[in-house]
Amino acid sequence: MMFKHSSFTLFSLVFISIPCLISAQACQNSCGKMPIRYPFGTGLGCGDPRFQKHVTCNQDKLTFTTHTGCYPVNNIDYTNQVIYISDPSMSTCACTQPSKGFGLDWDAPFSFHDDTVFTLLDCSTTSSPIYKTNSNSYNNGTVVPQCDRTGAPICSFLYSCQAISMLNLPISTCCVYTPVDLGPSFEMDLQKLQCSSYSGFYSFDGQEANPENWKYGIALKYKFNVYNDYPGSCADCERSNGVCGYGGAYNTFICNCPNGLNTTSDCFFGSSYNHGSSLLQWQTGNWVIYSSALFLVWALLCSV
Ligand SMILES: *[C@@H]1O[C@H](CO)[C@@H](O)[C@H](O)[C@H]1NC(C)=O
Ligand SMILES: *[C@@H]1O[C@H](CO)[C@@H](O)[C@H](O)[C@H]1NC(C)=O
Repeated sequence: MMFKHSSFTLFSLVFISIPCLISAQACQNSCGKMPIRYPFGTGLGCGDPRFQKHVTCNQDKLTFTTHTGCYPVNNIDYTNQVIYISDPSMSTCACTQPSKGFGLDWDAPFSFHDDTVFTLLDCSTTSSPIYKTNSNSYNNGTVVPQCDRTGAPICSFLYSCQAISMLNLPISTCCVYTPVDLGPSFEMDLQKLQCSSYSGFYSFDGQEANPENWKYGIALKYKFNVYNDYPGSCADCERSNGVCGYGGAYNTFICNCPNGLNTTSDCFFGSSYNHGSSLLQWQTGNWVIYSSALFLVWALLCSV
């Protein structure tokens, strides 16, 4: 164990500076200031393939994309598996503006966090389907309420914001939107709903009566897989300063190491490199010799 540790330190010394020799690490562990960990990734082949097209890193900015638009990612809570995004087109206490709404892609591995509250603003009380009881109902004739009456205080607080009160809208045009299904196929199409804007927030920040300080944005949950198990191979990879990714015809797991190489386990040189020949198959006894040799080569090349 001690040997493994000391040789690892030696290897780190060599490989930390190796980018001048071999290719740089393809997958980054941050996007700008945002730490990036599994299942998210900074590019093709990084993170989990299911998440790749939905969350991307462009010019140091992490972006969440759905068919309704692109949304900056404000924060990721890796412990509780929540991603916080903002919609620049939504209304807040500080600013009202027309919006088209928000929707998740049906195949996206995300769902709404329970804390997310959507409030529809400036809805047409005569033509909006949210005020009709059965025209839009799923179960034939029975009333499916889409506005939560217990949420009325939320409407009053929002409509008391200067930006909104200036518009002099009757409070009846506000709706705390609670359709039956806030699942992945959730669609808030404001044109269909006949509302000119919406507001979303995920926290009162301790002060329900102070809408200026509410946390505006959308909180989304994600799962690793059906059982929501964090893959053990990825945990090992991240512990060794690697970044989890995928490759090959079957999108199998790879660990992208700081030296740019990919392994099938971790970056502690515990197993063979999948891209190299058996030459790269390290036997513990040879580590010190190999590392010294590598260090010499590196020193030679880098001093030129
Ligand atoms: C390692 O994996 C990453 C991500 O899949 C890929 O972009 C890169 O080309 C791979 N590097 C090597 C040396 O195979
Ligand atoms: C409503 O009920 C009628 C008669 O029971 C039925 O023919 C119709 O298909 C139902 N519509 C929906 C949307 O379930």
